[in-house]
Amino acid sequence: MLFITAWQSMQRIAGQRMLPLLVCLLAATGGTPVAHAGERPLKGGSIKPAVLYHNYCSVCHGDRGDGNSRARNSLVPPPRDFTRASELTRETMVAIVTGGKPGTAMTAWKTQLEAPEIEAVVDYVRTTFMQVALDPRLQRGRSLYAQNCMVCHGDHGQGASGSAGGLVPPRDFTTPQARVELTRERMISSVTHGRANTAMAAFAARLPAPDIEAVVDYVRASLMLPASDAISGTSAHAGRSGPPDSGNPMEQPFQNGLQGNATRGERTYMSGCATCHGPKGDGKGPRAYFINPKPRNFIDPAFRASFNRPAIYTAVSDGRLGAEMPAWSKVLDHQEIADVSEFVFQRFVRQPPVAKGPARGAGH
Ligand code: HEC
Ligand code: HEC
Ligand code: HEC
Repeated sequence: MLFITAWQSMQRIAGQRMLPLLVCLLAATGGTPVAHAGERPLKGGSIKPAVLYHNYCSVCHGDRGDGNSRARNSLVPPPRDFTRASELTRETMVAIVTGGKPGTAMTAWKTQLEAPEIEAVVDYVRTTFMQVALDPRLQRGRSLYAQNCMVCHGDHGQGASGSAGGLVPPRDFTTPQARVELTRERMISSVTHGRANTAMAAFAARLPAPDIEAVVDYVRASLMLPASDAISGTSAHAGRSGPPDSGNPMEQPFQNGLQGNATRGERTYMSGCATCHGPKGDGKGPRAYFINPKPRNFIDPAFRASFNRPAIYTAVSDGRLGAEMPAWSKVLDHQEIADVSEFVFQRFVRQPPVAKGPARGAGH
């Protein structure tokens, strides 16, 4: 029952439903937003600003806050690119999000969001997408990146294929695995000294140390931008007290000290997730046939190599815009998300423990 209700509310709130809704909004006379009471199950202050952004703003301003979105081409003027908006003050932003911007598709959100939520989502935009625009040192990092790194690592840090001229491809900075593996120290060291037997050269002779730090901090703040501020340990924001680094990136604990219970998580999985992801985690649930893109296959080696506990938690919590993967933070609380993520991790992702050694004479 829980999941029937949950599913219905997701049908209404899931990101991909926003596009038709948006078209209605735009068609409405005077651009006045139509507020649907009860459209969003209010959960007090527990909704993370990253999720608010994802559900209410990214459809126009883009997943990366750069204005690159599916809605972009149909909007005049286009949605604002926050990554270059250095002149925008916090006050102006709060005022525009609250009251809208006349003559544009930017509607007033005060009917849908509470004042503290509006401030929280504005602060989220400022600390994630606008971080570089607001910090001259990171801006220098951006131009250093364009001059020295982009040719191999690509304009979005995804790694440009073919340009490295080596057997080892350039590192893709945008994967969850990179977010987990690449600490700031390791990156500074790799850029300073290079990586043996790869096209990644030592920059020690070409760039002074503060420039190496600036370009690394730019990569971390901008290109390795987490899908949500919930990703553990690797956030560019200083001063956070995350769980201790366990050394093995695949064994990282959940964010915020959460402990998942796989037995409870299994019940949630079988009633809420197996219909798409399949009881075996292979992405072949009964609903999968009707869905595009297809549900994730959790036993695929690429998935297993890159999704640890915090990455699964974030993926489940935030959902996927443009795919039928709901943002579960709307209907499950932090503990329930940790439980189901723990189940997915233990049952499908974590490699089975290596056998003590081949049993003598074993064969088939
Ligand atoms: C329907 C598409 C759409 C949605 C959804 C949307 N925006 Fe906008 N937004 C725009 C457009 C278009 C502009 C105007 C850009 C311009 O004036 O150049 C804009 C402008 C803004 C501005 C002011 C920028 C400036 O230069 O004046 C802020 C701040 C902003 N949006 C924040 C948000 C936030 C936060 C959300 C989510 C709560 C959001 N927007 C949702 C389309 C949208
Ligand atoms: C000629 C191509 C090339 C250029 C230019 C280049 N890189 Fe790389 N980079 C690579 C390749 C190839 C790897 C993969 C090496 C590996 O996996 O060990 C890599 C890996 C990295 C890594 C990850 C290393 C690790 O610890 O796993 C970082 C960080 C990095 N590059 C940063 C930069 C920065 C910053 C610049 C610009 C100052 C830059 N790179 C310029 C090709 C390049
Ligand atoms: C209605 C179908 C549906 C249901 C129900 C569903 N998912 Fe998904 N899920 C998807 C699809 C589709 C994708 C793939 C999106 C993509 O490829 O971009 C996905 C992707 C994921 C991913 C990977 C995200 C990524 O970034 O690649 C995880 C983890 C996940 N789902 C977990 C869950 C869990 C746990 C549940 C239950 C609480 C669940 N899903 C329920 C359809 C579903």
